[in-house]
Amino acid sequence: MSAQNQVRRMTVPEIMARKGKVPVVCLTAYDAPTAAILDEHCDLILVGDSVGMVVHGLTSTVGVTLDMMILHGQAVMRTAKKALVVVDLPFGSYEDSPITAFKNASRVMMETGCQAVKIESGSYAAETISYLTERGIPVMSHVGLRPQSMNVLGGFRARGRTKEVADEIIENAIAAAKAGSFAVVVEGVSEDLADKVTKAVSIPTIGIGASPNCDGQVLVTPDMLGLFDWTPKFVKKYGDLKGLIETCARNYAKEVKARSFPSDEFTYKFKKK
Ligand code: KIV
Repeated sequence: MSAQNQVRRMTVPEIMARKGKVPVVCLTAYDAPTAAILDEHCDLILVGDSVGMVVHGLTSTVGVTLDMMILHGQAVMRTAKKALVVVDLPFGSYEDSPITAFKNASRVMMETGCQAVKIESGSYAAETISYLTERGIPVMSHVGLRPQSMNVLGGFRARGRTKEVADEIIENAIAAAKAGSFAVVVEGVSEDLADKVTKAVSIPTIGIGASPNCDGQVLVTPDMLGLFDWTPKFVKKYGDLKGLIETCARNYAKEVKARSFPSDEFTYKFKKK
């Protein structure tokens, strides 16, 4: 394909310019065929470490490795041509120092070709965000319910019920924005708190279990497709993928047992020479 025919990809400055304007559409993807379908509809595709739970069957994101993120990032980058692709840095790959974070984030960028990384941003994160950004790695932050901290937080409950915690979430978002993050995911907080975060920062807020007033929204794609019986309160199921897979598998099993599949239409019959 010549450079002229290439689809133009969304850029970090274009996402930043959406603050207070048309909401940023974001979904997660972990594989090439899904990314190919979502690309048309999304401004931003997140290769989230939720992959550990929704693809690999882990009970949290804590067991997700850098190699897993790179493998799924590469798959998504093969077919996502228009959306900005952001890959999560997994637990243990960025928290201890900006240097470790740069080593791992640069590996993710170089081996996947993605445009940015995401980190869960507690009070420790500002130094790392500016270190990465100054060295050419755009960073999306993640505040509120931070799934990688579920062992400290005691689970996946919505956050910010006390003034102290709510203030801390706002401060984390402000610190992330000041340090150079280009956007911030706000997860699992009250609508009111999400609105305060959106007002407090000059970068787009991307809500998940947050508020319609955020500057964009993200959902975990298998959740919104209806692949699982249980999902968090904030997930709207836009389809019934579980039901569809069940129906297809049931019909297939019935036809295999009845020897009605494969019928003539699906078998090769070569003429004898
Ligand atoms: O890993 C993920 O999918 C995420 C979203 C929930 C924002 O971080």
